Order: sequence, then C-alpha cells, then structure tokens
Amino acid sequence: MKPVRLAILGLGTVGCGVLQLLQENATEIKRRTGREIQITHVGTRRPRPDLNLEGIQQSADLFEIVRQPDVDIVVELIGGIQPAHDLILEAIKHGKQVVTANKALLAEEGNELFEAADNNTVQIAYEAAVAGGIPIIKVMREGLAANRIDWLAGIINGTGNFILTEMRDKSRQFEDVLAEAQALGYAEADPTFDVEGIDAAHKLTLLASIAFGIPLQFDKVYTEGISKITAQDVKYAEELGFRIKHLGIARRAENGIELRVHPTLIPEEQPLANVNGVQNAVSVKASAVGQTMYYGPGAGGGPTASAVVADIIDLVRDISYTEDGSGTIPQLAFESLEDIQILKREEMTTAYYLRVNVDDNKGVLADITTILSQCGISIDAIMQQPRLKNRVPVVIMTDPIVESKMDEAIAKIQALPATHGEVTRIRLESLEN
Ligand code: HSE
Repeated sequence: MKPVRLAILGLGTVGCGVLQLLQENATEIKRRTGREIQITHVGTRRPRPDLNLEGIQQSADLFEIVRQPDVDIVVELIGGIQPAHDLILEAIKHGKQVVTANKALLAEEGNELFEAADNNTVQIAYEAAVAGGIPIIKVMREGLAANRIDWLAGIINGTGNFILTEMRDKSRQFEDVLAEAQALGYAEADPTFDVEGIDAAHKLTLLASIAFGIPLQFDKVYTEGISKITAQDVKYAEELGFRIKHLGIARRAENGIELRVHPTLIPEEQPLANVNGVQNAVSVKASAVGQTMYYGPGAGGGPTASAVVADIIDLVRDISYTEDGSGTIPQLAFESLEDIQILKREEMTTAYYLRVNVDDNKGVLADITTILSQCGISIDAIMQQPRLKNRVPVVIMTDPIVESKMDEAIAKIQALPATHGEVTRIRLESLEN
C-alpha cells in the first residue's frame, strides 16, 4: 500500500514532538498501521535547521499546504481560534482527515467543524485536546461505549493543579509557581485560560458532549478559576480533612445537566485528592462498569505529541479500510443528539465550605447559623479559628444545597455589620456520586 501523507501545521513544542515521534518510532508505528506514514509538508514561519526535515516541503503558507493533493491528513498544531478554524474547514473541504490538539477551537466552534467533517466524510481526531497523556476520549467513546454515563469529574488543567500542589506542599506564592509552569511549557499562550478555568471548561465541554451525547456548549459551562484561592483556605480545608482541587464536573441531574469548573473541596482519602503536580485524572461513573479513574500527565510536549500520533495512527488504520481513502465513522451523530437542558449555576446543587471573617462579638455566630437555617441550609461542620487581629475566621461546611439558596444566604451574611471582607465560598464534592 502506498504511504499515507501528512502535513503538520505548526512546529512548536507539540509539532516538534510529533515530528520526532513519527521519525524515531517509524518502525514501531508501521507495525501498528501496516502502512508507512510520510510527512510531505510542514507549515512553519522560520527555517528549522535543528530538525530533520529531509524530503519534507516547508512553507509559511498554511492554506496552500491544506489544499495540496499529496496530503491525506492535516495535523493542526498552531492553536487559537483563527486561522486554525479556517484552515481546518479548508482541509475538510479538500477531503483531508484532521488531527488537532486545539481544545479552545473545538469547544467553541466544534459543532460547525464536526458537521462539515461529516458532510465531507472525513474525521476530526482530538485525543490530544483533553488531558494529553490520558486516552480519555477513546475511553469515553470506545471503552465505556456500552454504558450510560451519569457523572464525571476531573483534574483537567495541569497548570492549575501544579500551582495548587506547590502552594500546598511548599507554601509557594501563586505568581512564582505560575511563572514556573509557563517556563515548563504547561501553560496556555494566555495563562489566564489556565488560572481562570477557561482551559478546563473547554476540555469539559468536549468530554460532556461524548458522555451525554449532547452538542458542544462551552458557553453554558459555569466557570471559576483558582486565582482567589488563598493559602489560608488550603490550610483550613486540610484541617477539615479535605484538599482543594480545581475540578471539571459534568453531572446528569434529574432536571438537566450540570457543567461546572471550579475549585472544589474533596475528601483527602479520595484518589482525585492525591493527584498532584501536572498530573491529570478523570473519574467517570458509568452505569455498567461503575466508577473508574484515568490518570496521567496532562500537559507538556511529550504527552500531547503521544496523543496526536495515536490519532494519526487510528486515522491511518481507518483510511486503509477503504480503497478511496475516506474515513467514514461519524463523530457526532447530529440527528440523534439529545436536547437536554444545561442547568444554570443557580440551579446546580453542591455542598459548600464557607469562610467568613467576623468581629469577635457575642451573637455573631448565632446570626450566621440563623441565616443558613432560614435559607434551608444544613450545617455539616463548623469551626471557629483563632482570632486574627480582632477578627475571627469562621469556617462552615454545609450539606448539599441548590446554589440560589446559597447565594441568598451569602448575601445576607455579607450584609451583617460584623462581617468583614468577602465571604469565601468553595464548593465541595464527595466524589461518591
Ligand atoms: N495549559 C494546559 C494545561 C495544557 O495546563 O493543562 C494542556 O492542555
């Protein structure tokens, strides 16, 4: 069989990793595909004498590359929405299979791109877009295909987890750890995507679409980052037997689906509480198999390149099934997508950790507990911390309650004359849904 021809757009950390993996493991890969993979084009703006590009055409004109007849698979690794969006559409229109690691693009524009791919009987493969080193897309789509999925929760941003781990274990400052994550190549080009939960929301959007058979709905994910987490909250949580982790959670509730990304207290004995550094992990509750967890490095050149090359290998196998070279497996069966409503933040239900700094006066604690009780909120644990400069931090753990009720209670506690600063709220997940 003639080789399958590949174009790689973008030779950043991941692009170089893909090129080198394909070159170094060519024999191993050919054994798995039964067919040679030939890189015919790379899209790069500058000469790369550091790479072995013998026999490969280099060009800065990426649109020209995706139209070339000697390209079967386009690997988009430039990131961002544009021109990646237009390049992928153009590749699809020219009958190319596509591999991408671009979670932002797929989460925000994926419905259009997948539809275009279906119409042109090609595939967009995106294993590398979620939790790089963990084959979680394959798990959800193939390994757990027999199950109804009710819930999944994951640490799906390596940078955020790295920051929280270093803050807890080494009492390091937020900015200092973020700078290190950037230097290590974990962070997004715009690190606010990591810190404010946007990157995790992109990934959750992709996972939820497969888990529940729903369209991609990034704009409906409730998103909160880790930038407001203080060392104080990390310490109090530990005293209560919890760890604070930044989780993406998708849950099938009775009246809709919860999609949420936020710092979360989880019991310290839970496996997810012990996922540290740049590691990612996703826990999935599925109807037949029960709860399973997938763990591995979530960011960095190696893990991401590994997932990209796995997708390339899969596509080469698919292409080889048909003589004319077209892949035919639909990615989102548009006709059968379910129209289940995504719940608004106020409609979601979780338990909470609250921290309120109050004057050390008689009756203040009673006021707070009365407000909670009036709002129908049951207290699981309450802890008054030693006095800090005339103020007493009061830490309260609640039982699960719908967010609108918690909003009401927090507004009332905030308005008490004895309350100082903002009431801190961190949601809590038992992870035993
Ligand atoms: N910035 C991302 C992270 C890279 O830290 O998880 C991998 O998607």
